[in-house]
Amino acid sequence: MPDAFRSRYGPRALVAGGSVGLGAEWARQLAARGLDLVVVAESDDPLKAHCEALAHEYGVDVRSAVIDLADADVLDRVQAELGELEIGLLVYNAAQSYVGNFLDQDLDGKLRTLDVNCRGPLLLAHHFGRAMAERGRGGIVLMSSLSCLQGTPLVATYAATKAFNLILGEALWEELRHLGVDVLTVIAGAMRTPGWEQTRPDQSRFSPPVMEVEPVVREALGALGRTPSIVPGRANRWSARLLSRLLPRKRAVETMGRSMRSLYADQVKRQPIPSGTRSARD
Ligand SMILES: NC(=O)c1ccc[n+]([C@@H]2O[C@H](COP(=O)([O-])OP(=O)(O)OC[C@H]3O[C@@H](n4cnc5c(N)ncnc54)[C@H](OP(=O)(O)O)[C@@H]3O)[C@@H](O)[C@H]2O)c1
Repeated sequence: MPDAFRSRYGPRALVAGGSVGLGAEWARQLAARGLDLVVVAESDDPLKAHCEALAHEYGVDVRSAVIDLADADVLDRVQAELGELEIGLLVYNAAQSYVGNFLDQDLDGKLRTLDVNCRGPLLLAHHFGRAMAERGRGGIVLMSSLSCLQGTPLVATYAATKAFNLILGEALWEELRHLGVDVLTVIAGAMRTPGWEQTRPDQSRFSPPVMEVEPVVREALGALGRTPSIVPGRANRWSARLLSRLLPRKRAVETMGRSMRSLYADQVKRQPIPSGTRSARD
């Protein structure tokens, strides 16, 4: 029902981080439903080519905007690109992540992760949420991750930012639905994207379910307006239930630590624990 979708979330969606991977698929499925688009990425290539291909294939207006979502003036830059264009759906997909020991990543990298993953969605949800509430219609999608359901070693900062997205999005689902705005947070498991491939996971000893991006976006679009958050994929829903409901918290964190060390054994040297720092119960 592209017409109903367009009148609820149109005329245009903004996909923040939409040049490759999951964000590119968000842009594709929204174009297929008849929405015009503004697609944001940090680099020109392959953003422009993707936008041109979508416009050609689906006959919608697709604009590209090269913006670093970590910029201090990101909101001004987005507004300057948009001018008078009306945004009916915001998909904040971009994220920064670092796989490794917390102490090994420099502080600037950690703060950049906070800017892209937390400050960016907060600013854009504030700005576009107000405009949507004034119109009495619209939607906001935030991306989260299974890693946010408990502390996740080796991606500690990233997982914490994804918890921020989940808690922010779920609260906004309740607040904004009374104003006609649908908010959904997508708690994704591993997906075959350039971001995932770049982490070079070794799946020979432990292989988590890895989804393609198409069903993730399809399930998310089916859930928009119906529920505060979803976990796409049956295997991921089982993992989420195990980690957040069935296992004691301590076991859940330890299980994630073991899984992450198995996936990233080559990249991450196990940190020696200085004597005298372990708790007596360990
Ligand atoms: N892949 C997974 O396994 C997985 C699992 C759970 C959750 N997620 C979540 O799903 C979302 C998408 O993940 P993905 O793997 O598809 O990511 P990805 O392959 O790394 O792509 C990220 C997109 O965001 C853009 N981007 C990143 N930093 C940006 C910045 N500072 N300014 C502007 N654009 C920026 C990238 O454009 P440029 O290349 O131009 O920077 C790209 O278009 C993320 O929110 C992630 O947390 C992913």
